[in-house]
Amino acid sequence: MQIEGSIFFVAAFLAGFAASQGAPQEDGVRKEPSLQKLFRNYFSIGFGSSVLDEPRSKLLRHHASVVTCENDLKIHRLRPGRDEWHWDKADAWLLWVESLGLEPVGHTLVWPHHMPRWVEELIADGAWTRAQALAWQRNHIQEVLLRYRGRIRTWDVVNEALGDESETVSDGVFLRRDPWSDLCGVDYVIEAFRAAREAAPDAVLIYNDYGLEGAAKRAQLFKLLKILEEAGCRPDAIGLQGHHNLEGYSTADIEQAICEIHAVGYPIHITELDISIHPSQTPPDAQSRGTIEAGPAAARKPLSREIAGRQAERYRDLFEVFLRHSDKIERVGFWNTDDANSWLNNFPVVGRPDYPLLFDERLMPKPAFFAVTDLVKMKRSD
Ligand code: GLA
Repeated sequence: MQIEGSIFFVAAFLAGFAASQGAPQEDGVRKEPSLQKLFRNYFSIGFGSSVLDEPRSKLLRHHASVVTCENDLKIHRLRPGRDEWHWDKADAWLLWVESLGLEPVGHTLVWPHHMPRWVEELIADGAWTRAQALAWQRNHIQEVLLRYRGRIRTWDVVNEALGDESETVSDGVFLRRDPWSDLCGVDYVIEAFRAAREAAPDAVLIYNDYGLEGAAKRAQLFKLLKILEEAGCRPDAIGLQGHHNLEGYSTADIEQAICEIHAVGYPIHITELDISIHPSQTPPDAQSRGTIEAGPAAARKPLSREIAGRQAERYRDLFEVFLRHSDKIERVGFWNTDDANSWLNNFPVVGRPDYPLLFDERLMPKPAFFAVTDLVKMKRSD
């Protein structure tokens, strides 16, 4: 089994490497097999994207069934000033996804860690009570959902609420510390799902977070879900972001998270998959210099064969888990389309190139692409 796996892997690696050395695909016509077709019987394939150019549109049309709005529906983008709504970019993004014939995913209605600055200033000045803040949040959610009613049917309602014991504790749940959770406690999560359900009763409403592969944070998730269930505000699914690197969570950890969350009644969406080539530990001052926006890195060198091979192996291991549990997984979505466009080129260190995706900076498939496609082809021929 081990030997067969290694032979398969080396073959996939060489095939991928050869392909990634080839000339860019002429006329942007994609020649590699389509991810969404290959995985159609298992789960849908998504990408977080907001680069509306032609080559990436072609890539998405070929490989995706779902596209998540990378930034333009976030609250700090839609509400940069107290009486301002900036809809233009989100509207344009949605028209673009519709023009590609793909399913849009709204991300994200509430992300307490990235509230507009003016909101945080009001809170710091003590100008808002909890009730006022929650009423504002409710109004925000309803405005957004009503504007896109019938067009966006899947929403990340709350992003990254959970924290650890050193952060904000509310109703026995550890919340990530920020002014919003300090003011509103767990009520903001309950009220967000309540408002979203009222405005979009038929939408798929997701709670999305990172680190749920760790048992401690997952225990907090289960407490939060109990509170939401008791309040009659149950999400429809759980989003596992899936920002990984070459080490980090083992496949056993990831598998356990999928199984345990599904066992308590929630389908899984892998919402933001990427595999950084850098270790997760970063220089102590680097975090603050990073940005959450995708963007080009300074100088890019080709990825070494050794790292490309390790990354391919890691992707293959993850997809083995996803395929084994495809009855529990609705979607596997990548965060950004290609290495040139990844947010990780600017996080946690601005301008440090990263290579976390299946497509390189010329949008060519990498060894990791062939590792996952060969895996699913093998499964289909079983
Ligand atoms: C988090 C958020 C995403 C995105 C990524 C980085 O995972 O959920 O919206 O900002 O960080 O780009």
